[in-house]
Amino acid sequence: MRKLSEMVLVTGGAGYIGSHVCIALLDAGLDVVVLDNLSNSNKVSLERVQSICRRALAFRHADIRHEEAIHDVLRSCGVTAVIHLAGLKAVGDSNVRPLTYYENNLLGTMRLVSAMKRANVKTLVFSSSATVYGIPKYLPLDEKHPLCPTNPYGRTKLAIEEMLKDLCRSDDGWRIANLRYFNPVGAHESGLVGEDPLGPPNNLLPFVAQVAIGRRETLQIWGNDYDTPDGTGVRDFIHVVDLASGHLSALRHLSRPGVLTVNLGTGNGSSVLNVVRTFEAASGRSVPYEFRERRAGDVAVCYADPTFAIEALGWKSTRSLEQMCADHWRWQLQNPDGYHGSELAKVRERSKHFRRHA
Ligand code: NAD
Ligand code: UFG
Repeated sequence: MRKLSEMVLVTGGAGYIGSHVCIALLDAGLDVVVLDNLSNSNKVSLERVQSICRRALAFRHADIRHEEAIHDVLRSCGVTAVIHLAGLKAVGDSNVRPLTYYENNLLGTMRLVSAMKRANVKTLVFSSSATVYGIPKYLPLDEKHPLCPTNPYGRTKLAIEEMLKDLCRSDDGWRIANLRYFNPVGAHESGLVGEDPLGPPNNLLPFVAQVAIGRRETLQIWGNDYDTPDGTGVRDFIHVVDLASGHLSALRHLSRPGVLTVNLGTGNGSSVLNVVRTFEAASGRSVPYEFRERRAGDVAVCYADPTFAIEALGWKSTRSLEQMCADHWRWQLQNPDGYHGSELAKVRERSKHFRRHA
C-alpha cells in the first residue's frame, strides 16, 4: 500500500461527488487543487468543503478540454495524482447531444491525460459508471461482466476505460483505477454539502427529496410492472461519503503499474418503492407518487458484486439506506434551494446538531 503525501488534482471537484471526494482527501491530510468549469456546479460547495475540514484547497476555474490550463495546474501546484470526475452525466441528454458528450468526456479526458503525460504525473483515478455493463446478463454484476452500454453517455465512459488501458499498455509508468460507481445518493452528515441539480432532477433521490420538501408535487415512478418483488426498479444505492472514501482507498492501493477496474457499490438492491418508504420514515414527510410507463432505457434490476473492491482496495461501504435518506433529507432541509441563496451562517444555524460546527 502507498503512503500518501500527495497534492491531488480533483477535476470536477465542485460537483456532487467531487465535493465529497475533496472532504475525504482533506480529512486524510492530503493537499487538493480543484479544476472545474462550473458548468454543473457552484463554487459555494468548495467554501463549504473548506469549512467542514477547516483546511484550505486551491481552485482553478478551467476546462479539462484546455490542455495548457491543465498542464499549468499540474506543474505550478506540484500535483502528484489526479482524481478525474469532470464530465457530463445525464443519460437522456446524451441521446440528444451525443457529440457534446464525446467532446466533453472523451476529448476532455484525452487532453487531461496528455497534459499528465507531459508533466510526468501518471497516477489517475477515473469516475466510470455501472452504466458500462448495459443490460445485466447475470446478477450481481462483477467486473468481468460483458460491457455493452445502451446510451452515448455510457459509451463515452467505456471508450475512456479502453483508452486508459491502451495508455497503460504503452507505458508501464501509469497507475490507473477505473471506479465503476453504482447509484450515489445521500450527502455529508453536516448537511452543508450535497447534490444540487440544475432544473428538474433526473435521478430518483433528489426528486424524492424535492417532493418531500414541497418543491414538487408528485413523484413519477417509472414502471411498476418489472419482474421485481414490488414491480418497481431495483438499484444499488450507495452513500456518497462511502463512495468518496473508495477514491482514497484507490489512491492508496495504486502501487502497481497498470489498470485496476473496480465496482463501487454495496451489493444490496433496493426498489424504488422501498426508497420512497425509507425516505418518508427518515423525513417524517409524505412523498406522493403515481405510477407511469417504464422510462426508456431503464433496466429492471442492477446491483454490484462488491467483492473485488474489498480484495483490491480493502474498501467496502458501511452506510445503510436509512442513513442515505436521513443525510439526503438533512441536506435538503437545510438548503431548500440548494447552494443558491443559502448563506453558510444560516445553514450552520440549521445544522447545530453537527458538533464540529457548534
Ligand atoms: P456533477 O455534475 O455534480 O459533477 C461533475 C463536475 O464536473 C461539475 O462540477 C461540472 O461543473 C464539472 N465539469 C463538467 N464538464 C467539465 C469540463 N469540461 N471541464 C471542467 N469541469 C467540468 O456530477 P457527479 O454526480 O458529481 O459526477 C461526477 C462523475 O461521476 C462524472 O464523471 C459522472 O459521469 C460520474 N458518475 C456519476 C454518477 C451519478 O449517479 N452521480 C454515477 C456514475 C458515474
Ligand atoms: N426513477 C423513478 N422516478 C424518477 C427518477 C428515477 O421512478 O423520477 C427510477 C428509475 O426508473 C430507476 C430508479 O429510479 O428505476 C433509479 O433511477 P436513477 O435515474 O436515479 O438512476 P439510474 O439507475 O437510471 O442511473 C444512475 C445514473 C447513471 C449511472 C447509473 C449507474 O443516472 O449516470 O446510475 O448505475 F450510470
